[in-house]
Amino acid sequence: MIRTARSRRLSSILDAVGNTPLLKLERIAPQAPDVELYLKLEFANPGGSVKDRPAKRMIEDALADGRLTSDKILIDSTSGNTGVAYSMIGAALGIRVHLVMPKNVTKARKDITQAFGTELIFSDPMEGSDGAIRLVKKIVEQEPERYFYPDQYSNPSNPLAHYHGTAAEILDALGDKITHFVTGLGTSGTMMGTTRRLHEHTRSIYCVAVEPAEALHGLEGLKHMASSIVPPIYDADLPDEILPIGTEAGWDMSDKLAAVEGLNVGHSTGANVAGAVTLAERIQKQHGGGCVVTIACDRGDRYCAPLKWERRYVW
Ligand SMILES: Cc1ncc(COP(=O)(O)O)c(C=O)c1O
Repeated sequence: MIRTARSRRLSSILDAVGNTPLLKLERIAPQAPDVELYLKLEFANPGGSVKDRPAKRMIEDALADGRLTSDKILIDSTSGNTGVAYSMIGAALGIRVHLVMPKNVTKARKDITQAFGTELIFSDPMEGSDGAIRLVKKIVEQEPERYFYPDQYSNPSNPLAHYHGTAAEILDALGDKITHFVTGLGTSGTMMGTTRRLHEHTRSIYCVAVEPAEALHGLEGLKHMASSIVPPIYDADLPDEILPIGTEAGWDMSDKLAAVEGLNVGHSTGANVAGAVTLAERIQKQHGGGCVVTIACDRGDRYCAPLKWERRYVW
């Protein structure tokens, strides 16, 4: 009988987090024929995004050391994917979840989180994710005993989930083959945790952080560090390079991935792959070959409703 990791029997939805597939992209970088390009399909996590990993680890670590108990409400600020992950895991473990998010996040995000029984609190849409951070801090300060506030921006369990999970799986799948890693900065958990582990590898792996090129951008999930509250877990010395990617380039790459690779992905994934292709073309010229890995953070259908409107009137 053939047994594969993805056909395994599970006893909890939490056990479905991680062990995501690593897909070789064959058609996206024709100018770099000798560079292998891999995309780690984090949308295959049960909550649909890369954020299932840190949410799971932050909750498990807090349950283990007593910061989270059954009488407390989990509260955090999130523009979406972490909120979906908290909501899914909270429902599975019987933990109440409250989320603070800017009022203008997509209807789909609100509907998905509320479907798990999560309560939503809205912050000023003009203040973006930083406004949601300020509001959640105020709520927790008023009643600290009532809440467990994981604070994904400063919680070391966030990057640790990627150190022990994402990076370990990439090394397990590719071993010494991988030469470059590239991913975008949101909380920076994916970049920090994965890069820390890859930098420890016996052979050197060059790790690049993708950042939105503009302060006002349309790459949901990513942060323009210079104009944002910098997450305490972010260590600016860790990336070997920062690669700015524009909103248009990220959006165009999402469309192209659907058209030529059959991949329906969100815009931060478009930006990640745009960064990976830029890097692959440079490696082709400088070294004649290599192996680049990047991350598919979530699926494009989460952005379907406002996609055309935003593109036409905002960007
Ligand atoms: C769609 C999407 N892309 C990218 C990221 C960035 O990941 P990280 O927070 O690990 O930097 C997030 C984080 O919320 C996200 O939701």
